[in-house]
Amino acid sequence: MATFSSTHCPSYSYPSSIKGGKNQRLAFSSSFPRLSVPAEAKFFLQSQTSSHQNAVLMQDGAVATKVNPVEKETPLKKLKNELLSVTSSEEWDEKGCFDINENESTVSITVVGASGDLAKKKIFPALFALYYEDCLPKHFTVYGYARSKMTDAELRNMVSKTLTCRIDKRENCGEKMDQFLKRCFYHSGQYDSEENFAQLDKKLKEHEGGRVSNRLFYLSIPPNIFIDAVKCASLSASSGNGWTRVIVEKPFGRDSESSAALTRALKQYLAEDQIFRIDHYLGKELVENLSVLRFSNLIFEPLWSRQYIRNVQLIFSEDFGTEGRGGYFDHYGIIRDIMQNHLLQILALFAMETPVSLDAEDIRNEKVKVLRSMRPLQLDDVVIGQYKSHTKGGITYPAYTDDNTVPKDSLTPTFAAAALFIDNARWDGVPFLMKAGKALHNKRAEIRVQFRHVPGNLYNRNFGTDLDRATNELVIRVQPDEAIYLKINNKVPGLGMRLDRSNLNLHYAARYSKEIPDAYERLLLDAIEGERRLFIRSDELNAAWALFTPVLKELEEKKIIPEYYPYGSRGPVGAHYLAARYSVRWGDLGVDQ
Ligand code: NDP
Ligand code: BG6
Repeated sequence: MATFSSTHCPSYSYPSSIKGGKNQRLAFSSSFPRLSVPAEAKFFLQSQTSSHQNAVLMQDGAVATKVNPVEKETPLKKLKNELLSVTSSEEWDEKGCFDINENESTVSITVVGASGDLAKKKIFPALFALYYEDCLPKHFTVYGYARSKMTDAELRNMVSKTLTCRIDKRENCGEKMDQFLKRCFYHSGQYDSEENFAQLDKKLKEHEGGRVSNRLFYLSIPPNIFIDAVKCASLSASSGNGWTRVIVEKPFGRDSESSAALTRALKQYLAEDQIFRIDHYLGKELVENLSVLRFSNLIFEPLWSRQYIRNVQLIFSEDFGTEGRGGYFDHYGIIRDIMQNHLLQILALFAMETPVSLDAEDIRNEKVKVLRSMRPLQLDDVVIGQYKSHTKGGITYPAYTDDNTVPKDSLTPTFAAAALFIDNARWDGVPFLMKAGKALHNKRAEIRVQFRHVPGNLYNRNFGTDLDRATNELVIRVQPDEAIYLKINNKVPGLGMRLDRSNLNLHYAARYSKEIPDAYERLLLDAIEGERRLFIRSDELNAAWALFTPVLKELEEKKIIPEYYPYGSRGPVGAHYLAARYSVRWGDLGVDQ
């Protein structure tokens, strides 16, 4: 099978975007100079990339274009080499912008809040997976930072419990784990202590051993301490001669005002291009594939508009409640937790116009444009729900308000359905329906595209009265069991004329033997490599909040009571009425999903 690979990291590749972005800030301080890639160099890079393409015969007989892999060459090194051939050495003689020589630079990754749930569950395992796949630079160190008292050995012990191996290389897993753990260290400190961060800085310097030091801080802490930690890290532990980047976890505020205040506060200490706002859904394989599907297949893009698409559905469901995170959740609710970020990001990628290039800024510009073309969500177009206790098979499942950290009279929605509209030429009048809920009957995330009826369909009578059942539907199943399938009508073989629904199915597990990387792996690697494409820019965030803030305020001010639904059910019936108002049926609840 043909692979499209251009980096040393076997599981990862970029088509043409410039690693490191257009502008690289060298440290927290705004006094450092900016380096930007000149337009002619960028053009040169793009033409270089396309010249690598040639035709290859795939195993299944198809012919595909292939980008020749450049073994053991990091994208940054490649970029540097190519740039050197079009720019004078003086122009590029500023240290620390690119990894000129891997041996001379080091990356220190500090997980702030290392004792917490996310760090254990996602961040350390993702870092190990990257190490396992040889995706981390030669010189790297991982530091855990939190208030809890722990030794390096205790941190390693804690981390080792959550590390897993990739199935395809299991034989040397234990060895790799030991090697990885030896590069993990711990520093105990307060989040608001410059002194404690200065101690961390000292330890980092010892590991960096005089090399160009690049530093990544991952803020895996509750949002009320983001700014303290950023301030202290910035003032006491930013890199003196390399880049410093900060990954910020959601929530990015809880409405337009608080989000803007957070951005303002972050920008007191960081430049925008040092801030990597993470939305882990953007790191999911099928969300990444959305643009490939749209822009590298002739058959989809011409259909991607109001002319052929009847409605688009973005569906998220979990078959468990807020378990353990009720305290956090009650302050946010499902609209902020899932819709305003994960589902809206997918919508933006789905609906944006073709970007000028795959460069991060070009893609994010298009996402902002489509978000700004959307109508703020109206209260009439929202249904909210909350799960209640339910007994099934002798087991009693708790209500949302049974969680000790949730007030008994909480009205926080654990389910929401919404109809959104994009007022632009491409999508005018097409409902984009979102549905997100906890404690439902299954765990799933998917995009459903329902196409229009075939005009004057010769076979109408073969479908009876239910024409909806005969429309084509494209389903992009983000998880679990990743798949892309297109529902089509075909004739049942035989002498009669009976029509049937079938799926043209790209089922990932059947097509690819390789395990799909976790979203956090992709995003961490991107942050290390300075690739911003999958991170949220502040104007994107503002546009996203502008759509949801008015309705969130109204729901809270009017104390709208959610529709209660049993734990493990299909959610409130109100979601069906909302869809029906726009002549839509939820695709995930049909007979042939
Ligand atoms: P935790 O509640 O586990 O907090 C992480 C660490 O922060 C704790 O181990 C604790 O470390 C410290 N901490 C917790 N509360 C406080 C406090 N009030 N004051 C000071 N320090 C505190 O958070 P998670 O790991 O669950 O999440 C981290 C971030 O990631 C949050 O912003 C969250 O919203 C986000 N997130 C989490 C997800 C998850 O699945 N957990 C999913 C998506 C986003 P110590 O006491 O040792 O200092
Ligand atoms: C997080 C939400 O962002 O995403 C959680 O805060 C949710 O409430 C989680 O459970 C779902 O992520 P995934 O990757 O398991 O679908």
